[in-house]
Amino acid sequence: MLTWCEQEIVDILADEGENTLYELLQKADICRRENIGANVYLRGLIEFANDCDRNCFYCGIRKDNSNPARYILNQDAIIELALAAYDAGYHSLALQSGESDDPSRVDFVAKTVRKIKQLTVSNDPAGKGLGITLSIGEFTREEYRQLFEAGSHRYLLRIETSDEKLFYKLHPPAQNYQKRLKCLEYLREEGYQVGTGIMVGLPGQTLEHLARDLKFFIDFDIDMLGMGPYIPHHLTPLYKVRDRLEFDPFVVTLKMMALARLLMPDINMVASTALQTINSRGLELGLKAGANIVMPVLTPEPYRESYNLYEEKKYSNPRQLVDEINRYGYPVGLWTWGDSQHYQKRKKFNADDAD
Ligand code: 5AD
Repeated sequence: MLTWCEQEIVDILADEGENTLYELLQKADICRRENIGANVYLRGLIEFANDCDRNCFYCGIRKDNSNPARYILNQDAIIELALAAYDAGYHSLALQSGESDDPSRVDFVAKTVRKIKQLTVSNDPAGKGLGITLSIGEFTREEYRQLFEAGSHRYLLRIETSDEKLFYKLHPPAQNYQKRLKCLEYLREEGYQVGTGIMVGLPGQTLEHLARDLKFFIDFDIDMLGMGPYIPHHLTPLYKVRDRLEFDPFVVTLKMMALARLLMPDINMVASTALQTINSRGLELGLKAGANIVMPVLTPEPYRESYNLYEEKKYSNPRQLVDEINRYGYPVGLWTWGDSQHYQKRKKFNADDAD
């Protein structure tokens, strides 16, 4: 365990010695094995739509980009992918899309989730079916409730940075930092396992910001964490200031992950695709840094290039991926949800409290 101290964290992040990095990874790996075990859990990622009504300055599928052909998979296609994933042993799915204001979007997702649950629960002696994570953006409390009641039980909504000023340098004024926080609160109150996260290496981001991001995660008592390096996309406004960087985003992402594992030993943490994209050792070192979740992309081939939040995104062959994870020394937990242990403890704590 580590206790949060801003200066100590900043010093670790600033230390460019290779030994500091490897010692930190080693500590994180031990911490993870002792607290949550060596297992890595897979979430099949289905990017079911890339239409988006937001204009994040860093994102390749932002509304004002005329470039990616916009698509929405129909319900049958999503269900078919989900069932194939379930049969292949992925007992957790993540459904992700751009953030749509289309009034029918929440109903569409809720109906799809309900159907996937019906079809998989009836096939499961334990009666659980597929575990479903959503990552579809900001909605009202009622909408989050509707999606939860349909059967989704985890939600990813990255804060991107916990520094309000930096947040507004990355987003137009219509996208509100306080609203993002409110959404995270709603999600938690509605009963979801809540995941958030940030990008590392954003123009204007300092090591102090990153240290405070870790404090934000601790204070919010998050269940799941996704942190990845920012990867410039040439069709976005942030591209022109992409070189304003004071640190190596790959090394600092790894250090942030290791520190997160030491500070929050029982959360679920992903080795992000962005981390795997910017460095060929991203997966291996991400796991060493304490990640216990990997999200192989199951989006059908023809749509993948239209879901380029950033460029040159890496795709893994799911079978080879399992072998690769094993080779790095971690068993893969297929046929199971692999919920955040932090969430389970939090739930138990609340139940005890109510007694
Ligand atoms: N580089 C890295 N990550 C990005 N995301 C969006 N655009 C980029 C980029 N250019 C991340 C954001 C978002 C998640 C779905 O993808 O953190 O929350």
